[in-house]
Amino acid sequence: MRSHLLNDLTAEHYRRSVTEGVERVAAKLATTDRPFTGVTVDALAPRIERIDLDRPLGDTSAVLDELEEVYLRDAVYFHHPRYLAHLNCPVVIPAVLGEAVLSAVNSSLDTWDQSAGGTLIERRLIDWTAERIGLGANADGVFTSGGSQSNLQALLLAREEAKTEDLGRLRVLASEVSHFSVKKSAKLLGLGPDAVITVPVDHDKRMQTVALARELERCARDGLVPMAVVATAGTTDFGSLDPLPEIAELCAQYGTWLHVDAAYGCGLLVSPTRRHLLAGIERADSVTVDYHKSFFQPVSSSAVLVRDAATLRHATYHAEYLNPRRMVQERIPNQVDKSLQTTRRFDALKLWMTLRVMGADGIGQLFDEVCDLAEQGWRLLAADPRYDVVVEPSLSTLVFRYIPAAVTDPAEIDRANLYARKALFASGDAVVAGTKVAGRHYLKFTLLNPETTAADIAAVLDLIAGHAEQYLGDSLDRAC
Ligand SMILES: Cc1ncc(COP(=O)(O)O)c(C=O)c1O
Repeated sequence: MRSHLLNDLTAEHYRRSVTEGVERVAAKLATTDRPFTGVTVDALAPRIERIDLDRPLGDTSAVLDELEEVYLRDAVYFHHPRYLAHLNCPVVIPAVLGEAVLSAVNSSLDTWDQSAGGTLIERRLIDWTAERIGLGANADGVFTSGGSQSNLQALLLAREEAKTEDLGRLRVLASEVSHFSVKKSAKLLGLGPDAVITVPVDHDKRMQTVALARELERCARDGLVPMAVVATAGTTDFGSLDPLPEIAELCAQYGTWLHVDAAYGCGLLVSPTRRHLLAGIERADSVTVDYHKSFFQPVSSSAVLVRDAATLRHATYHAEYLNPRRMVQERIPNQVDKSLQTTRRFDALKLWMTLRVMGADGIGQLFDEVCDLAEQGWRLLAADPRYDVVVEPSLSTLVFRYIPAAVTDPAEIDRANLYARKALFASGDAVVAGTKVAGRHYLKFTLLNPETTAADIAAVLDLIAGHAEQYLGDSLDRAC
């Protein structure tokens, strides 16, 4: 069994095993002609259930054959140009190489004595990101598992900085289209059920600052403490960017912590042409960035950044067995002092490899391409009488709904759109997402693949229309 431990004696075994795995995946990626096979849970589950985990196959090739059956064949492939659903990007090769390196060396970024250079690389990337944001000389931050954790940590710091310990009086203000992790975080932080005040958005799905001002004023009048405003720079559904300068102004006026959730919009930090869309982000107290959304990084890769490094102390605990207090005086950098996690992956290496091979502009160009593509998609949809499209994209999402010529019942139109999404998924020809707008079912493209073309978008729109019409035809037959 020791031959399976990765060490000096098994370096050759490691090379062969990983190379074989890489070759299988490369072959798979090269020949995947659809984003999904359309497999159902009922068809796939028994294949996984019948594997006896107490009877190992022992042989890597055999296990890779089996993996083909239980995973690779039916995985959802984000690199395929017709995967248009959620905020998942195709990944860049330097980052995948970084992933292979980081899991083999297996540094843990909690303490210097488990990572050494890894800690310093992460810190450089945090400084680099904070500089791109413009957070100033006292900024700091830490890599996290994702945007949800980054938002949670930011709100934890905001809660600790708030001028009351009465949790029941604390309020968080976020737009009605902010990410659900804001509400989840409020719950995890022990705030009351009414803690998150939902601020309405304008026609372009951006937070209405007049309404925000009204809510902040109401809090002051009612003796409530607005501990944070969460501005979203790139909403999950619409890619809309809240008006950061105006929100920052209000936060300054009311002494409220400003958290900018740029999980999606952070790609603009490296965009050669669209950086200005993030103007005002430099005034944030904390910022969430998800490199695994718009920097083409593999899951996971995210960070929370703060303007004032000292606020990270709210996540600091010392333990003799790990990071004793004296290490602070000895200036030993232990990232666990800033993190909600203890053992933590060296995800930063993927971004490091990416920047060193491609450069920031390279990533920014890719993100620009998908934003350009979304503009083309918008024009297609706006000119297509079969579709209602919600807002002109600022980033790379499109929310739209098939509107059949002969049907006026909104509930029936809902059902046709729901059916079309399901049928498309089952066909495996393309994968699209769905959401609700004003209580009605809509479909969504999240465009994060520079290989997707306007022709792909047009073709998928035809497929959706075909499935929706099929549903409506069948439902007419049922009625007759
Ligand atoms: C705006 C926004 N914030 C936060 C998140 C949560 O990020 P994660 O899925 O990495 O936890 C998302 C995910 O889509 C998001 O769109």
